[in-house]
Amino acid sequence: MKDEIFYYQDKSLYCEDVPVEKIAAEVGTPFYCYSSAYLEGRFKAYHQAFGDKRHLICFAVKANSNLAVLHTLSSLGAGADIVSGGELFRAIKAGIPSERIVYSGVGKTEAEMAYALQQGILMFNVESHQEMQVLEETAKLLDKTARISIRVNPDVDAKTHPYISTGLKKNKFGLSMDQAIELYREAAGSRWLEVTGISFHIGSQILETEPFINALEKIQGIIHELSSSGIKLSYMDLGGGLGISYGNEVPPEPEDYVSATLKLASGMDQAIIIEPGRSICGNSGILVTKLLYTKKNSLKNFYVVDAAMNDLGRPSLYDAFHEIRPVSEKDNELTTVDVVGPICETGDFLARDRELPRMNRGDLLAVMSAGAYGFTMSSNYNSRPRVAEVMVRGTRFEVVRERETFNDLVRGEKIPDWEENGS
Ligand code: LLP
Repeated sequence: MKDEIFYYQDKSLYCEDVPVEKIAAEVGTPFYCYSSAYLEGRFKAYHQAFGDKRHLICFAVKANSNLAVLHTLSSLGAGADIVSGGELFRAIKAGIPSERIVYSGVGKTEAEMAYALQQGILMFNVESHQEMQVLEETAKLLDKTARISIRVNPDVDAKTHPYISTGLKKNKFGLSMDQAIELYREAAGSRWLEVTGISFHIGSQILETEPFINALEKIQGIIHELSSSGIKLSYMDLGGGLGISYGNEVPPEPEDYVSATLKLASGMDQAIIIEPGRSICGNSGILVTKLLYTKKNSLKNFYVVDAAMNDLGRPSLYDAFHEIRPVSEKDNELTTVDVVGPICETGDFLARDRELPRMNRGDLLAVMSAGAYGFTMSSNYNSRPRVAEVMVRGTRFEVVRERETFNDLVRGEKIPDWEENGS
């Protein structure tokens, strides 16, 4: 295998030791393709950077929830950061032990809380007073103890896209430092709640360590204050959010991020939890799509491909940039094109005004850096079956999620028999 996970050999794009064309020939297009070696490498980079500091890496399941991805990480010791009952179900199915699962999110339902309590997860990251009350009642009903951390909103600017910034006062997430301290005092007196940790998560695709450090400093203040009033915490959950390169960005490496946090936190009693998603799986994956038609008008050239905004929503939603490479390297002259899908909206594009070689009907394209928030945000819009997912390991590959069928599209639907009954 080459140094890079995705590289060209004899003008053909490879994932690890498998030509992407070979997968396309067997699986059809479009499909997501993930490298297990990349996932493992990124997880280990985080893990090793902690040295002997007690830590738990809870992979953010929302970034990529395929069971094969979760299992690959869990077998290396990963836990999971979940935000729904469905994610808990997946994490458990993939073999992630419940004592390595933390539950984030502003809107946990009672049923989800009960499920997580029954599974015995490590802790709930509580985001409001009402949520804490409901959790306490639910725990009482089940005769269980809910381990909690309070999610603090440290009011720091993560300097990222406004839709994925979460640590500002105006965002819906977490509680102010004062509110948090009040909640801790209340929780400490409850028979059904066990104060376990403190957490924050300030945003996603963050390209500097400084916002994390600012948040950590604020959280340390709370930990000291709580400790002086006799409330001791076992865990400090720093959330996720480290960015990746989609092209020109130069993000801190996991090692840089961990060592920056350890500078502040290595001497503290609390074990550190982190919840990375994108920085583990983002560059592990590509979306492979086929060129259906080329067309041009007086203003623009279009490559109409068989993947669309329902398969990869990030360009349409966030105007996100994803590099696009031909699967079979071309020496043809470059041309400026919009790469668009078959969906009936102008917002359906994967790239706009992009320089790509001249290509023909049937050629394959790889949308890079698609391993995070790609498949997990996909939908059936325009009644398009969700695409297949493939995982590569060395010279082998396996379909880890089958392409949906038309029957999958209508599963659970029914036509009411009102007319037949005459009512
Ligand atoms: N922990 C919590 C509580 C989160 O809300 C998130 C992401 C993470 C961890 C993982 O963050 P990461 O390490 O992946 O940055 N759909 C958007 C990203 C939304 C992120 C939401 N929260 C995108 O495609 O860019």
